[in-house]
Amino acid sequence: MDRVLITSALPYINGVKHLGNFAGSMLPADVYARFQRARGRETLFICATDEHGTPAELAASAAALDVRSYCDQQHVLQKSVCEQFGLSWDWFGRSSSSANRRLTQQFAEDLEENGLLEERVDRMLFSIDDNRFLPDRYVEGTCPYCAFDQARGDQCDSCGRLLDPTQLIEPYSAISKSRNLISKETRNLYLCQSRIVDRLWRWLEERKFSVLAESIARKHLNEGLRDRGITRDLSWGIPVTRNGNPRKGFEEKVFYVWFDAPIEYISATIEWSEEKHENWERWWRLDKGASDVKYVQFMGKDNVAFHTTSFPATLLGSGRPWKSVDNIKSFNWLNWYGDKFSTSRRRGVFMDAALQLLPADYWRWYLISNGPENADTPFTWEHFSASVNSDLANVLGNYINRVFKFAQSRFGAVVPRRGEDGELEENLLLQLKDGAAAITDELENMNFRSAARRLRELWSAGNSYFNDAAPWKHVLAEPGRAAHIVYTSLVMAELLSRLSAPFIPFTAAKISAALGVNSFSVWPTPEEIASFDTIRAGAPFSVPELLFSKISEDQVAEWSIAFGGRARESAV
Ligand code: 2FM
Ligand code: ZN
Repeated sequence: MDRVLITSALPYINGVKHLGNFAGSMLPADVYARFQRARGRETLFICATDEHGTPAELAASAAALDVRSYCDQQHVLQKSVCEQFGLSWDWFGRSSSSANRRLTQQFAEDLEENGLLEERVDRMLFSIDDNRFLPDRYVEGTCPYCAFDQARGDQCDSCGRLLDPTQLIEPYSAISKSRNLISKETRNLYLCQSRIVDRLWRWLEERKFSVLAESIARKHLNEGLRDRGITRDLSWGIPVTRNGNPRKGFEEKVFYVWFDAPIEYISATIEWSEEKHENWERWWRLDKGASDVKYVQFMGKDNVAFHTTSFPATLLGSGRPWKSVDNIKSFNWLNWYGDKFSTSRRRGVFMDAALQLLPADYWRWYLISNGPENADTPFTWEHFSASVNSDLANVLGNYINRVFKFAQSRFGAVVPRRGEDGELEENLLLQLKDGAAAITDELENMNFRSAARRLRELWSAGNSYFNDAAPWKHVLAEPGRAAHIVYTSLVMAELLSRLSAPFIPFTAAKISAALGVNSFSVWPTPEEIASFDTIRAGAPFSVPELLFSKISEDQVAEWSIAFGGRARESAV
């Protein structure tokens, strides 16, 4: 594997995302991208805002803005919040870009050329009171599978199933709430996925996805693929063309958001290449070198179906040598006290609000070390504060603080001389070698919780070493021994900053800067660990500011009331 291409599911433009979105795609993708870069691999990490479709139109209308202005505003906002969380994309694009318009139209034309696109007349819900068709989220009603009464026309938020608006029981318009709906004929373009099911099976068999993604993909292929309508009666979106001209009969329609959104993974790379004078084809075209690329996608489980059926069908069906995904890492739900986080219902903590409470690394650490990787996982303030206090404040923060302060008070702000290793040092080195190899393997295999657990064990090993070695006991009688313990603890801090950097990059940078090495973005090799001399005796250092503060019970109570949680539940 020479190069790594990473995409995380494109966040809808309809407002700053909640911590569930962050934990289930953007954050693990970033940890993986930082790890791959640190290992010295050429890495391209791409994301964008998903700007079309009914989520954008409904949110713009709620904000009393035209859709383009709304998208312009929200793109800037989402980009800024995500950057404050340390997301290290190479490019954060927009699915409404001209590159995506061109490429989406090109894909449709290629598919048609290959007999995989067809015009069909079907029946859609039409609202008499709104005088318009109601595609996707413009219609709500009761889910036919789980009876949730606020299911949306494209998907049920409760059971996660994909829906067609006509399946909803007692449907009503999301615009006017009117139930005065009729079913009316309209003409749409269909992607004839059913014609290439065999190719999709072969494509899937050649790949190894995470267990969750694999099982969702198999379930959908086993159920038999229905052809999908890829145009909608909407005005905001990518216009439908034929031979480069507006397509007759489709002047009032646009492509369906789920047709153009994944194509934006490629188009965003084109946007990046135009801006940075790079070559996008070597990442995406097998005939232009992309066969050397390992491509990994990150997403929540509700997105897997599209990424294992209609998007690969689009790529394969185009008949052109597009690179497609090698591994899909998918995530379960982060729940909010047993319920779902929800953007449309503003339930849970949103990324901008989270940053008002605490710096990014607190959230990054909690959400990756306790993320919904293997099962739906509840977020609670109690669990969050317990994890922050024990892992970050009591272990890592405490270790760095004690070592640096002691070193400064006894040796001035200069790294002391290395001495001879004793049993405690040998033991520490064994734990470090073993732990670093395990973290490397777990991250390579994208087992983020396990990687975080092994990292926490190393923080703890450093802390225990400093306690047991107790340099303060040796200062007078054996100053050389005290110096060696401090030297060892400072090297350990340096190596820990590098192993921790994909998870908590801001903190890693602070430790690295305090040591004057700025090495945190380079993954340590087994040789560097074995020689254990990554900082130089005599080099100056400074004491970093306190890295983490403990979260108090009062804060938990206050946040529970402000955002919901147990305290509020019992208060009402
Ligand atoms: O579910 C979502 O949030 C979608 N906006 C994800 C799109 S991923 C990609 F295909 F664009
Ligand atoms: Zn349902």
